[in-house]
Amino acid sequence: MTATNIEAVPLEATRTQALEEIGACADLAALAELQRKYLGKSGVLAGWLARLPTLPPAERPQLGQAVNRLKKELTEQIAARESALERALQESALGGSFDPSLPPAREERGTLHPVTQVTREIEDLFVSMGYQIADGPEIETDWHNFEALNIPPDHPARDSQDTFYLRGAGRLLLRTHTSPVQVRALERLKPPLRVIAPGKVFRNEATDASHEHTFHQLEGLVVDKGVSVAHLVSSMKTLLRGIFRRDLEIRLRPGFFPFVEPGFELDARCPFCTTGCSVCKQSRWIELLPCGLVHPNVLSASGVDPNEWSGFAFGLGLSRLVMLRFGITDVRLLLSGDLRFLEQF
Ligand code: FA5
Repeated sequence: MTATNIEAVPLEATRTQALEEIGACADLAALAELQRKYLGKSGVLAGWLARLPTLPPAERPQLGQAVNRLKKELTEQIAARESALERALQESALGGSFDPSLPPAREERGTLHPVTQVTREIEDLFVSMGYQIADGPEIETDWHNFEALNIPPDHPARDSQDTFYLRGAGRLLLRTHTSPVQVRALERLKPPLRVIAPGKVFRNEATDASHEHTFHQLEGLVVDKGVSVAHLVSSMKTLLRGIFRRDLEIRLRPGFFPFVEPGFELDARCPFCTTGCSVCKQSRWIELLPCGLVHPNVLSASGVDPNEWSGFAFGLGLSRLVMLRFGITDVRLLLSGDLRFLEQF
């Protein structure tokens, strides 16, 4: 470009073109290119200044000042365009408009599952009474789940606990109740002993609002000298007081479980009504926990002398208790993993 050419192109035209290109520029790389084009060492404005000596001395200051003003203006316009492009980039990365003045999104906080909440309360209660918390495998042997509990093969009691057997794994099965932990505790710990064992159990059953194939029970076992039904009853009353936070009248009905003798079904006065309600099905009693005195055969099977030791055991339907406690009407909700349900606790 010659001096004549430059002078022939008015500076205003350069300005108009530069502002137009900056305004239309859609990405940062192109903007950096425009900056080099107009403001770089050999850029358009540098070209204007290089030609100053060729002008008559009287015109030089005027053009020099005009070029410097334009340089400042273009520098500002490029910086502004750069900020706008960066903001647009951030917004699209955030998936929409970004307003830094908005309060942050609500923090999602987890809560303990209702079964865990009630389990921990009951654990605290029993630990305060000197019980240990025991655990056992969910995949059990036939011996621990049935035989050592005085339930030989073909015993009709097996029918009431439809069992998931593991294919190709001998007689391994998913435990149908927490009672095998009684056997494991007797094998491992020497009497006197007091244990509770909360845990998951599995039954091959059709499901409905009060029956689930996977649910929770809480087993209790006390073995000592001279343990009687009176000890069982007073411990169960303490358990109910801990759960419902008041004394509830109880009654014992005969219940048949091969691993206890005598065996009972313990019912408690409905804590929700005085005249009958849907929870107690108008009976004013709720069936809460099967229990009884440990059968001598169970003690013997685990090497404990029944002539020296006796005990009581209970098997709380923990899932049903959690339902009672929180007014849950369908047991299947408990393990559904449905956040709409879980977020309520
Ligand atoms: C037993 O499982 C015995 N092991 C309990 C026991 C322990 C008796 C120690 C004596 C001494 P049962 O099959 O009745 O008993 O189950 C105990 C509780 O589990 C029931 O009272 C009930 O609350 C709960 N339960 C049983 N089946 C289901 C099911 N499908 N879904 C949810 N809860 C269930």
